Amino acid sequence: MGIGIQVEGLTKSFGPQRIWEDVTLEVPAGEVSVLLGPSGTGKSVFLKSLIGLLRPERGKIIVDGTDIIQCTAKELYEIRTLFGVMFQDGALFGSMSLYDNTAFPLREHTKKKESEIRNIVMEKLDLVGLGGDETKFPGEISGGMRKRAGLARSLVLDPQIILCDEPDSGLDPVRTAYLSQLLIDINAQIDCTILIVTHNINIARTVPDNMGMLFRKHLVMFGPREVLLTSDEPVVRQFLNGRRIGPIGMSEEKDESTIAEEQAMFDAGHHDGGVEEIEGVPPQIQATPGMPERQAVARRQARVRELMHTLPPAAQEAIRDDLEGTHQYHASAFGETVEAPRHRDDDAPTGVIPTVDSPTVETRTLER
Ligand SMILES: Nc1ncnc2c1ncn2[C@@H]1O[C@H](COP(=O)(O)OP(=O)(O)OP(=O)(O)O)[C@@H](O)[C@H]1O
Ligand SMILES: [Mg+2]
Repeated sequence: MGIGIQVEGLTKSFGPQRIWEDVTLEVPAGEVSVLLGPSGTGKSVFLKSLIGLLRPERGKIIVDGTDIIQCTAKELYEIRTLFGVMFQDGALFGSMSLYDNTAFPLREHTKKKESEIRNIVMEKLDLVGLGGDETKFPGEISGGMRKRAGLARSLVLDPQIILCDEPDSGLDPVRTAYLSQLLIDINAQIDCTILIVTHNINIARTVPDNMGMLFRKHLVMFGPREVLLTSDEPVVRQFLNGRRIGPIGMSEEKDESTIAEEQAMFDAGHHDGGVEEIEGVPPQIQATPGMPERQAVARRQARVRELMHTLPPAAQEAIRDDLEGTHQYHASAFGETVEAPRHRDDDAPTGVIPTVDSPTVETRTLER
């Protein structure tokens, strides 16, 4: 099982600019978590802090029993080998083929023979659907392929923890759905801890076991996905529904009078930028049939049962629905009611043909 990360009272500034303060959370071992937040709130800074590329001035980051803020450079080097990182821009070396890019961490961090390296590299490139493209250079492939190559490279050292910084940026919705499925399948196959930073609402709603959000220099919340998805916090609702109405503005914050002005425009019939208001908890993507079962599911259920009494009532209800298989969620939009299947029918880009489980049907009530 992957390794968890404990973050306690973490504070990071650049000179006089405070990025975030007093961030405390636990990324549960072997589970998939998502960190949301408007642009510029310091999500990438947070990920870079977790692998020791940036150094917060206060707090602790405990990975495998070691506080990586206090540890020696040698310890940090060792701890970093537990991580696979998919950077925001793929961060591939332009002068190397996909094969050499993917082999790079193995050549750098291990003494493996080239024949062993070849097996690992080809296996990981196959996993992300790039088998056959290994001789191509980053400049010769699409943005989506570069993302997947970055993911393949993050996997070669059999990481215990995978950090993905906006894995979906620049991808079309279909490729994003494939990528979501791929991340869940990777979690099923290697039972690693995954932390994803994203702006993508579909990923946030359907992929993670846990979710958190950074806003106005603080962690708004972090916990089981049901807590954030059922939250009434205006900033959370605005973000999840992609609307202009709410506390988030074009630059991160808005004042009360701007919020009131925008609300008045909306009340008078002006479009708020959102398409539909989704309430409740959509079903989570499951591992592709034929994959090992995701061990995180049972572990998380046990953990969440223990936490249950500490959670808000709406989250408790959603968790109970999930445990009993009676998921309910609502999308208010254009005055119709549609039925949504319980499982998504996308497959991983590995050539595996999906068989959709017999769908438990849930109702999306479309009003307005
Ligand atoms: N090395 C650095 N030196 C100084 N300031 C930095 C550095 N890295 C990031 N920042 C600042 O920290 C803030 C947060 O940046 P960060 O890249 O973490 O935002 P983000 O939440 O990832 O945004 P996005 O969603 O747009 O990727 C920004 O104001 C940025 O200018
Ligand atoms: Mg970023």
